[in-house]
Amino acid sequence: MFDIPPDLHGRREHDPFLVAVTRFFTGIERVRSLRRARVTRAPRPLSRELILLVREVTQEAEDVVSIRLATWNNAPLPAWQPGCHLDLRLPSGRRRQYSLCGDPADRTSYRIAVRRLPGGEGGSLEVHETLTEGRVVRVQGPRNAFPFLPNERYLFLAGGIGITPILPMVKAAQRVGADWRLIYTGRDLASLPFLNELEGLPEGRVTVRTDDEHGVPDCADLLAGTPGDAAIYCCGPAPMIDGVRAAFRAGERASGTLHFERFAPAPVVGGQPFEVELARSGKTITVPADRSALEAIKAELPDVAYSCQQGFCGTCRVGVLSGDVDRRASSDRAGEDSMLICVSRASGGRIGLDL
Ligand code: FES
Repeated sequence: MFDIPPDLHGRREHDPFLVAVTRFFTGIERVRSLRRARVTRAPRPLSRELILLVREVTQEAEDVVSIRLATWNNAPLPAWQPGCHLDLRLPSGRRRQYSLCGDPADRTSYRIAVRRLPGGEGGSLEVHETLTEGRVVRVQGPRNAFPFLPNERYLFLAGGIGITPILPMVKAAQRVGADWRLIYTGRDLASLPFLNELEGLPEGRVTVRTDDEHGVPDCADLLAGTPGDAAIYCCGPAPMIDGVRAAFRAGERASGTLHFERFAPAPVVGGQPFEVELARSGKTITVPADRSALEAIKAELPDVAYSCQQGFCGTCRVGVLSGDVDRRASSDRAGEDSMLICVSRASGGRIGLDL
């Protein structure tokens, strides 16, 4: 950004002509910054696998650690942008996805952060218990399912560990001189990672709102006062995402957009129950109307491969041997003799899978 220069005597009195010229060039610089951001393409989905070392594990909050990953010789890593994630292949064979939350300009390491979820499916516990310093881990990516797009104004909403994709976005918005606000919510201060990094940002832009002090937030309140053309980026637990989506739909916004990323699969909408024949074992299982095929299959085959559970990573794709598919993800294309079992369903009452 340009600063208004002092006069010949070093005084900061602003000549109206100089003010106008300075504003003009500042405007041009901002447009250039946004254009630069626009032409930088998000990394394409990759099947590339990287073998990285855990370089550093840091306790960031109660039950949250950040993990810094790098090659053995600190060789440059593939570029990434805010919103990108890594697919980690854990020692057990589980695959889990974690947002990159470090600095995209640092090409020698990636940083992720993981909250320990004792009631989860075991991925986060495995990260906490096995990814110690010096451990080798295989990763795929980075890839981007939550692209950060240029805009003049932003509202960022982060719930707890949902700060991970949001943090690099906030810093990028600050870098290009956008008008932004962050509302960071969570149970209490002890549960919120990266508060120390937010302290360095300009005063008045960050609101930390904890349930123990203010109660559970009303999502309409979170959006209140946001300019109509602001881009809203939200990441947090399912009730927060669903509440923000409902409040966004209910509000009359001029031209703003809502972008969100879930931690967990979206609820099944308009599902019908169906049966799945598992060809390799000869067993048949029933998928209830409100559950995904993956959830039902996991109960029978705990080692079935999956990762995002949202239809974009492709890990859960299996061959279809009989029956028709109700495809529910743009990445699950018609005409293929396979399906993504985390989102797609049988369009009839029965389907046969190569499992
Ligand atoms: S688990 Fe990622 S597409 Fe199904």
